Amino acid sequence: MSGMRTEVAIVGAGPAGLLLSHLLAQDGVDSVVVERQSRQHVEARIRAGILEHSTVQLLDAAGLGERLHRDGFEHRGIYLQWPGERHHIDFLDRVGRSVWVYGQTQVTKDLGRAREADGQRILYEVSQTAVHDLESDTPSVTCVDRDGADVRIDAAVVVGCDGSFGPCRAAVPEAVRRTWERVYPYSWLGILADVAPSTDDLIYAWHPDGFALHSMRSAIVSRLYLQVPNGTDVETWPDDRIWAALATRLGHGQDGWQLTPGPITEKSVLPMRSYVQTPMRYGNLFLAGDAAHIVPPTGAKGLNLAVADVGLLAPALVALLRKKDTALAEAYSDTALRRVWRCTHFSWWMTTMLHTNGDPFDEQLQLSQLRWVAGSDAGAQGLAENYAGLPIGF
Ligand code: APR
Ligand code: PHB
Repeated sequence: MSGMRTEVAIVGAGPAGLLLSHLLAQDGVDSVVVERQSRQHVEARIRAGILEHSTVQLLDAAGLGERLHRDGFEHRGIYLQWPGERHHIDFLDRVGRSVWVYGQTQVTKDLGRAREADGQRILYEVSQTAVHDLESDTPSVTCVDRDGADVRIDAAVVVGCDGSFGPCRAAVPEAVRRTWERVYPYSWLGILADVAPSTDDLIYAWHPDGFALHSMRSAIVSRLYLQVPNGTDVETWPDDRIWAALATRLGHGQDGWQLTPGPITEKSVLPMRSYVQTPMRYGNLFLAGDAAHIVPPTGAKGLNLAVADVGLLAPALVALLRKKDTALAEAYSDTALRRVWRCTHFSWWMTTMLHTNGDPFDEQLQLSQLRWVAGSDAGAQGLAENYAGLPIGF
């Protein structure tokens, strides 16, 4: 068994784990990260691509914003539409904040490079990760490294940034933890296509056939989604069928608007659920990002929530480890959960407003709600405020 000692042992090298190790290092706090997958796998995973105003600010302040400002795109709003109508909701005009289109894949690459340049200790391709003695001042993480050797990492604090399938959330005893879950009766079929986006801002479209979203990754790569039934096999969606459904649902031909199809380079089905586990701290174990909460992708809050958690947790751990000041660490779970529940509500609200479920009564309510959101200042303001992101601690 090889032994390592550090101040903070981090499980998971997704955006939450990498950003936490980065922010801690900036304040001189040492950490070791263990990750189940390879670095290539982590950096190739395709996820959402919208950064809220506060996420951009945090990445800038951490010195991670250079490529984001060069290759990302600032968006001032979104389109909300239903058959026959398309409305622009302008975040900048309404709440003075914009969002950025910049793939999570890119954020992870920027973080990976910065951590490598800093000499961060990251063990990729580990197995059998387990966390121990969380109630004590000497918690630890054990795993088997990529060469098959047993590793033990002794730390002052363990942070679970290990997503929804990692071991950390389950390490909180059942008597202590509480969970909330909503599984939605539909999924998203997502595609990446080598074609210039057919829109300047993202289009969120309600349609009787189901929701559709036109997003993008760059000036030459589009990202689009279709609502599909749970359990859908991608094989049943050949490229032509996908483009035809997108054209119908996104309103090809409506007021002269055209959807330009192109070669599809990636296709996958994403299930949709909401999940929250509390508390986000148990003894010397802290949870951040998907390890504590999952949102459905409508509204693109997942990555932003992970960044907000870490933005609270890093100064809390610095105060705890450097000054023995426990106040921020004690407040972490409650403070983070305020934003978690706000985003959980917003993601649920966007999801249930835009996805059809076959119930004709619900359809009429959705259309009425869409008309109100797009047509009234109060409605549009609420969407803009939540989409562009509320301040941490709201
Ligand atoms: N041991 C080590 N690492 C693990 C283990 C384990 N047993 N189990 C999971 N992991 C790793 C995963 O391989 C993954 O790289 O933890 C990491 C968790 O990363 P993410 O799932 O990306 O979660 P997070 O960093 O919280 O980022 C949240 O990612 O899934 C999206 O919608 C989500 O955009 C949001 C963001
Ligand atoms: C994406 O670009 O992947 C995306 C954008 C907006 C969403 C969800 C996903 O609401």
